Amino acid sequence: MPDGPDRIYKWMAHMVQGTRAKVLEQPKELDMRDLFTAAPKDLREATLREYDSYLIERDGDMNLEERTLSKREATIKKHETPPAVTREMNEAEFRKHYAAFDKRKPLPPEMLLLLALVKVNSAEAYGVARNFERTKSRAIKAKNDSELRILCEEGYHTRILLSSANRYGIEVNQPYRPPSALRIMIGGIATAPMAIARPLTLAGEIIATLMFTKLLEVVPRVLKHVPELRDSIEERIVEICTDEHGHISYNRMHAGAADLAELRLILPLTARIMSTVFQEMVALGAYPVDVMQGLPLLANPKLIPELVRREAFLA
Ligand SMILES: [Fe+2]
Ligand SMILES: [Fe+2]
Repeated sequence: MPDGPDRIYKWMAHMVQGTRAKVLEQPKELDMRDLFTAAPKDLREATLREYDSYLIERDGDMNLEERTLSKREATIKKHETPPAVTREMNEAEFRKHYAAFDKRKPLPPEMLLLLALVKVNSAEAYGVARNFERTKSRAIKAKNDSELRILCEEGYHTRILLSSANRYGIEVNQPYRPPSALRIMIGGIATAPMAIARPLTLAGEIIATLMFTKLLEVVPRVLKHVPELRDSIEERIVEICTDEHGHISYNRMHAGAADLAELRLILPLTARIMSTVFQEMVALGAYPVDVMQGLPLLANPKLIPELVRREAFLA
């Protein structure tokens, strides 16, 4: 495997194209797990129409200029309002590790958790910034705004996660700028043909959803001594994780057999690249180090956290 980030990206694009050609030659690859099996096209189209209605119901009206969703405005206000009493945290230490995380240095678990939370959406925040205009022209052409709504949801995710810091009296207003390896990969998604962009986007959504699912296991452990804070952080992650399942469904319903075969190929490598970026998540034990083994957490409804399963659009 090549080592530099741009060479990795080129290598991935090359592998993906090779697989696409192979799969198109042999369309009957049926021994895949559900996540990698494409539904018939008419069923996928019907599911996408259902998702359109689901998003309108969940988010309310979209204001494209402001990139806001009417129903999300109320909840975001709640998250972004600092509590009357905040918890102690050494802000200078926090800022130092925020700027440059050193995985060899053990940190207090709450600080590690907060670092993970405020940084975990850096890739998606950067992706939204890079992809918005392209998505907008695609949406206008397709006369469908679900993908734009998804990008607006991502904007809320970033704000929801950054607002976790206000529980400690710390202000973090700007999303973390991802390191160059990830920026190159995201830039690749923004400019690559959809045959490459779709599986890469789907891989990103899967890894993100696994991280949020794992965070829902980690948070009660780290914050067991502060139930109010624990609940407010869990509430944030449930909201995001619920959306993320919808994003997986949306991208999956746009994916054909070849896209899903590409997805299977690139998922482990994408997870490996992202693990070098989300080191706080790895240190916290909330990163899907073996992504293929983690997939049942998304594919098996019994393993999806109940609060998420109840509201999420799963397809
Ligand atoms: Fe997100
Ligand atoms: Fe997402």
